[in-house]
Amino acid sequence: MRAIEIAKPGGPEVLEWREAPEPRVERGDVLIDVTASAVNRADVLQRQGFYDPPPGASPYPGLEVSGVVAEVGADVEQFKPGDEVCALLGGGGYAERVAVPWQQVMPVPDRVSLREAAALPEVACTVWSNVFMIGRLRRGETLLVHGGASGIGTFAVQLAKALGSYVVTTVGSAAKGERVRELGADEVINYREEDFAEKAHADVILDIMGAKYLAGNVRALKTGGRLVIIGLQGGLKAELNLGVLLGKRAAIHATTLRARPVDEKGVIVRSVVDNVWPLIGAGAVSPVVYAEVPMSEAAEAHRMLDSGEHVGKILLVR
Ligand SMILES: NC(=O)c1ccc[n+]([C@@H]2O[C@H](COP(=O)([O-])OP(=O)(O)OC[C@H]3O[C@@H](n4cnc5c(N)ncnc54)[C@H](OP(=O)(O)O)[C@@H]3O)[C@@H](O)[C@H]2O)c1
Repeated sequence: MRAIEIAKPGGPEVLEWREAPEPRVERGDVLIDVTASAVNRADVLQRQGFYDPPPGASPYPGLEVSGVVAEVGADVEQFKPGDEVCALLGGGGYAERVAVPWQQVMPVPDRVSLREAAALPEVACTVWSNVFMIGRLRRGETLLVHGGASGIGTFAVQLAKALGSYVVTTVGSAAKGERVRELGADEVINYREEDFAEKAHADVILDIMGAKYLAGNVRALKTGGRLVIIGLQGGLKAELNLGVLLGKRAAIHATTLRARPVDEKGVIVRSVVDNVWPLIGAGAVSPVVYAEVPMSEAAEAHRMLDSGEHVGKILLVR
């Protein structure tokens, strides 16, 4: 088969479409003939040499795919050859075939094409697990989503609205603001012009900025609020005023999906299929696809992501 290899750490040009060994199918694995994958910010970090795949994961980039089951391992009863699926991966999605533990495989939700389904596993599992399982966002509460136009953000805005929350989000331009309003955001803050901490008061905050936004996020939390940090785009280290946190009886949680053990990913995946897939099937939440790029031209897709012009997900299609 062929796969995108990172020839050496660097810019998009280091992504090369090459012959690669067929994946090994373990007893609990599903082998997927890949229809599409999608680009994540983490793939850019991996390309640059800042984010190694976890032990045992494929060396090729790609955290999610959609496709058709080609083969299943001896212990797998949940899927069979020919099934149309999508899957959350530890790596290896930028390839013609990928093997993945069955626990991380999902059916394609109703109303979504097989290609578009590649835009869902990362955003659905990340947003559901962080905002709802960890953050416990409830109907009527306010969610602040940083980067509402990102892959993650476009899904978080829609899902929180569909489940009855008031949604505030930050974006970097007026055009992106328009787009996230169309997706359901109640309030949009342009982070280049305004200080979100002055305007937003949230029960739950989904943060992708880390250090740079820590003080502002704690300020923006309501009493009993929950700050969930999933990205460190604004740095790793910051000072925290514990007095403010204590006074608000607030919580901070930071987490990553990729490094979790298979069983933990499995719990999230099943919860997503039970709780999120029906909303997609009902048309209340949809994948937001900005562009489809041939997988062999993954470098072009990375240039697009690097430019920051996208809203939603960039797919890599075969
Ligand atoms: N922990 C996990 O398990 C996990 C899983 C998936 C993703 N993530 C993280 O989630 C983030 C989004 O991922 P993605 O793949 O969806 O990325 P993406 O589409 O490339 O989005 C990056 C976003 O960052 C926003 N941004 C940049 N500077 C900002 C600022 N100062 N204030 C607010 N927003 C700012 C951009 O907003 P504009 O374009 O409007 O300027 C853009 O929407 C990344 O940090 C990624 O690492 C974490």
